[in-house]
Amino acid sequence: MKRRNFLISGAVATAGVAVFGANSLYSYDIFKQKRKFAVPPLYEGKKIGGKRVFNLNLQKGEMEFFKGLKTQTIGINAPFLGPTLRAKKGDMIQVNIKNSLGYDSTIHWHGFELPAKMDGGPHQIIKNGATWSPEFAIKNRASMLWYHSHLLHQTGVQVYKGLAGLFILDDDESQNLNLPSEYGVDDIPIVLQDRNFNNDGSFRYVSSQQEKMMGIHGNYVLVNGVIAPTLEAKKKLTRFRILNGSNARYYLLGFSDNRKFQLIGSDGGLLEKPVTLGQIKLAPAQRIDIVVDLSDGKDVVLKSYKGALSQNMGMMGMMMGNMGFDIEFDLMKIQSKDAKNSNAKVPQNLIKHPVWNPKDAVGVRNIVLQMRMGIGMMGGGNGEDNFFINGKSMDMHRIDAIAKKDTFEIWKVVNKSPMAHPLHIHNTQFKTLAINGRKPDASESGFMDTISVDPMGIAYIMVPFRYYSDNKVPYMFHCHILEHEDGGMMGQLLVT
Ligand code: C2O
Ligand code: CU
Ligand code: CU
Repeated sequence: MKRRNFLISGAVATAGVAVFGANSLYSYDIFKQKRKFAVPPLYEGKKIGGKRVFNLNLQKGEMEFFKGLKTQTIGINAPFLGPTLRAKKGDMIQVNIKNSLGYDSTIHWHGFELPAKMDGGPHQIIKNGATWSPEFAIKNRASMLWYHSHLLHQTGVQVYKGLAGLFILDDDESQNLNLPSEYGVDDIPIVLQDRNFNNDGSFRYVSSQQEKMMGIHGNYVLVNGVIAPTLEAKKKLTRFRILNGSNARYYLLGFSDNRKFQLIGSDGGLLEKPVTLGQIKLAPAQRIDIVVDLSDGKDVVLKSYKGALSQNMGMMGMMMGNMGFDIEFDLMKIQSKDAKNSNAKVPQNLIKHPVWNPKDAVGVRNIVLQMRMGIGMMGGGNGEDNFFINGKSMDMHRIDAIAKKDTFEIWKVVNKSPMAHPLHIHNTQFKTLAINGRKPDASESGFMDTISVDPMGIAYIMVPFRYYSDNKVPYMFHCHILEHEDGGMMGQLLVT
């Protein structure tokens, strides 16, 4: 198939979500075009007077995702997405963020424990033309976090167009482990984002009530801004740190030859011990840190398997399945014929986690996730305020929860809807006590900032609030399906 043909099938898909399944994500050899894998530029800032200072510019840009077709985008110091920022635990950082977009935005530090005023949520708007300069100490352990727009009701569209980037944190403990850690060489960051395009190459964001309800699902997946790239691996032992930067799509990641990999970390940092897996589910906003053995020199494809959506989605699941939201498709190709031997390795023991006793929690907070069905589905609803937490949709003037600094809370997250929701809490890295009626397995034992709760499922998580308090400025907690967040499934949390 030639490119024209892809675009025609893309065009058919834009005619309505119902035909999406028929066009699936790639039923042809998407790697034929041999697009090169792109490593986001690394930006370690500049040490100025004891601070690590970064300068970011939110800007408009243009990309050529398809040869010969221009896509209008936005990015950070780049036409699309932003540099990978890097800092070390203990650093004091300052980020000067200039907004040159032509409209308001925000930049939120996803996964960081930081003062509420620096969080970059809906309350810290960066007006068009203005510069915002948050400053905070790096308290988090070594991990891959990220940053993205968080403007009220506009997060979905701004992230879709490109306002997101990675943030890698180091610490002494992780640096002493001899893990693959040379950025872009044997430590490869990956941002997965599915997108839809119009015939002229422009992004097609939400255009139907179904897309507002289920979140937008694209029929192309950008891997660091490139469709189906090929990576020439340099080392036989390679680490991939993968962010699901999609607005709504879940992935069940694995390799085309079913080779196993080692999971070494989750959202908030390294696990205690590596876990050998063949597949792993990644909900929107979540990250995984994996190490893959490429010493056989064979080509292999990183793909998403069928089964990314939970099995008990009922009618909704069937519908989403039929729409092609839960199918098998390719993401990127890895060629390792020239990969060199590696001195790095994955030790039996990674880091020690503190022991958190649920008995030490000050109480249980109930969080009920709900969505209004019908209106949006049938058409006619405005698509906003169809999503609720504890019966309410997001209101900047209402505080929904007050927690005390230096305490643990247990959050009981109940999903009373027919879709899975990835709940994210700002300013914390929590641990899972129980998920969908069972104990977390080893791969779920790490620090998380986003937990996916199955339809009608329940999660119990143990949530620490540390370091900072503020009697006025709240943090957010919300579903990280961005259309749900924008549609009201978000609440405000004060830590006092
Ligand atoms: Cu990644 Cu409140 O967001
Ligand atoms: Cu966040
Ligand atoms: Cu949701």
